[in-house]
Amino acid sequence: MENVKNTKDFWNAKLYDNKHSFVSTFGNDLVEWLAPEKEEKILDLGCGTGDLAKKLLDYGVDVIGVDKSDNMVRQARIKYPNIHFIVCDATDLKYRNEFDAVFSNATLHWVKPPQQALHCIYQSLKQGGRFVAEFGGKGNVQIITDEIKNQLKLFSFENNIRKFPWYFPSIGEYSSLMEETGFRVTLAQHFDRPTELEGENGLQNWIEMFGNALLEGIPDDKKDQIIKNVENNLREILYHGRNWTADYKRIRVIGIKE
Ligand code: BEZ
Repeated sequence: MENVKNTKDFWNAKLYDNKHSFVSTFGNDLVEWLAPEKEEKILDLGCGTGDLAKKLLDYGVDVIGVDKSDNMVRQARIKYPNIHFIVCDATDLKYRNEFDAVFSNATLHWVKPPQQALHCIYQSLKQGGRFVAEFGGKGNVQIITDEIKNQLKLFSFENNIRKFPWYFPSIGEYSSLMEETGFRVTLAQHFDRPTELEGENGLQNWIEMFGNALLEGIPDDKKDQIIKNVENNLREILYHGRNWTADYKRIRVIGIKE
């Protein structure tokens, strides 16, 4: 896999909170799999603007939130000043045997190379500690991204296709990487999660929020045309009267450091 380190901070923390709060809402399920206990020390890896870290705090957890995006961490600190948030890439974590659990919702599909992130997560955990994560799996948002790629080709921006920023593994692939790192994999699931993108502009908002790396460097008028074409071509399958539905597919994994 190409290891492209993206150093730009594409994240718009306010747009994320206003239009994409479903990301942390879905994360509530994952907190149940984590089953946090009072006074456990837990790392929330890819904490975004801090909503799930706050939820862990409410369980009595000693939580640290980490995110690569300075914009997101700034917003998290404003919302939850009593939680410790740090800007750090998942592949640069320097913790050693510190956490009872590492928790990660909707983040690891942004992180390359995955082996390095898994190594850092493993090192961060105490012996017997657990890694509980959910993120985009094989085939995630493929209908949307295939159409964006199609338009990039039609508009002669083929080079942008190489900027595909995500890693969407199968559970076979990811479980193997976890085992190679030293984890005992106790759960691996791959499931569909059709996700409503609110309103007539839902797909456009999603592309502007998350797909900006793919459209980087394209003049605004062309970008608008590309997004319009994507909408037109996908309307029949993904628009249902009032809302768009994104073809999310998730993987959920639990591993124990042995
Ligand atoms: C996801 O959460 O699956 C996701 C979000 C943005 C872009 C791609 C995938």
